[in-house]
Amino acid sequence: MKMLNLTLDNSNQKLYLKIAHAIRSAINNGNVVSTEKLPSTRSLAEQLSVNRHTVMAAYNELVAQGWVETQQRQGYRVAENLPIFSSTAANKQKETMTHQHQWRLVKANNSVTPAAASRYQFNFAGGNPDIDLFPFNEFKSFMNDALNRPDIHELNYGDNMGFGPFIKQVSTYLRRVRSINNKQIIVVNGTQEALYILSQVLIKHGDKVAVESLGYQPAWSAFENAGAQLIAVKQTDHGIDVDHLEQLIQAHTIRLLYLTPLHQYPTTTTLAMSKRQRIYQLAQQYNIAIIEDDYDHEFHYNSQPLAPMAANDPSGLVIYLSSFSKIMFPGIRLGIIAVDQSLCQHIVNYRAIINHKVNVPLQDALARWMQDGGFERHLRKATRRYQKRRQCMVELLNEFIDEGLNISFSIPAGGMALWVNIGGNAQHVAQLAKQQSIFLLAENAFHLDKNNDQDKYIRLGFAGQDEQKIRQGLLLLKSLLK
Ligand SMILES: Cc1ncc(COP(=O)(O)O)c(C=O)c1O
Repeated sequence: MKMLNLTLDNSNQKLYLKIAHAIRSAINNGNVVSTEKLPSTRSLAEQLSVNRHTVMAAYNELVAQGWVETQQRQGYRVAENLPIFSSTAANKQKETMTHQHQWRLVKANNSVTPAAASRYQFNFAGGNPDIDLFPFNEFKSFMNDALNRPDIHELNYGDNMGFGPFIKQVSTYLRRVRSINNKQIIVVNGTQEALYILSQVLIKHGDKVAVESLGYQPAWSAFENAGAQLIAVKQTDHGIDVDHLEQLIQAHTIRLLYLTPLHQYPTTTTLAMSKRQRIYQLAQQYNIAIIEDDYDHEFHYNSQPLAPMAANDPSGLVIYLSSFSKIMFPGIRLGIIAVDQSLCQHIVNYRAIINHKVNVPLQDALARWMQDGGFERHLRKATRRYQKRRQCMVELLNEFIDEGLNISFSIPAGGMALWVNIGGNAQHVAQLAKQQSIFLLAENAFHLDKNNDQDKYIRLGFAGQDEQKIRQGLLLLKSLLK
């Protein structure tokens, strides 16, 4: 330890005793803890502008009293068994209890933080990528480059839209791979931040926001936090029920529609092209902004995925969100908003309230990695692996069906999970599975209106673990499904 904040009193005591007293107080207050190393005599002398011998005398005094221990050549550390009288400790505890502050909480998030699915031996959480597939060594060299040759100007405060070369790479990628060429790009710390900013910018207290009846709770929380009233749109096997959407629009003033069109979360169905056309028309006619959350676009298997709604957006009202949480890993905290020019600056300006920038060295490294082609190589590899895992899960579940297990599912064209009808008791099965160290979620977790819970479906993620784990986990799960 180099620094320790000490307050010397104004008494007429000798200086070394005042220093000893200040260190003892620091120990008593918990600012340094038992066995922690104390500053060297040299650095403490420098800090207090006193002679080194004075500090040494203070330490020796504390050693004599049992507060500090000294080890040869290792300097001084707080003693392991401190001479704090238990009455002092008890008094202190009493003091904190009587002085506990009563916080006036004006906003709370009552949705539960997701369980750490990765702590389970078999992790069937629907959206987890396999982080072991990420080429850390390769990426490290681009991170090194970004730190060895940084753009000093960009490291300072300033432009809050995103790091220029990264935006350029992302724009090129979105244009080539997802046919989006008509939007401005803003870099954010993941989709959740984007949802929060958009909610604050676009939603007023009491506004109605239409969402898929089975959907993504973290998005709902962001809307509700801004004062939105959520309205559920029914779902069909090909995405939302557009007739129902139209009825809702006629009955309520809906300001915003949040959709996961490519791989509907959590059911994995793709929103049909004909429905997309009607949704554009309705949105245009009734002036409704659409948030398109395209969270795992690349993971589509037998054919090219449908282009995002944002790509064919006739009136610029689709706000497109993309995340690096699946294509890299959730801890990277990086995402983008692709939005019409007319909304862009409002979002950038609002974002300045919560953050000045997104991590610049990280964007720089990613830009270099994308330029080199590594990003797309990784995506191709991960997609191939996930396709095999999907096949493995499908084959095994089909075997279970052949053996007489009463379950059913459709093979999803893409995504990272299967939506499996197990006939009933889904919540109970999810609970029992946890006891066997298997993580999975039942449909209950995804309903906006829990009254609609039929308790039939479970979501089984196939991307996050290898085939061996999938097999072992499913075989264990099978016994719970009988
Ligand atoms: C529907 C949906 N949107 C977005 C995300 C990614 O969010 P973020 O970028 O905040 O990690 C996820 C991740 O699970 C998701 O399931």
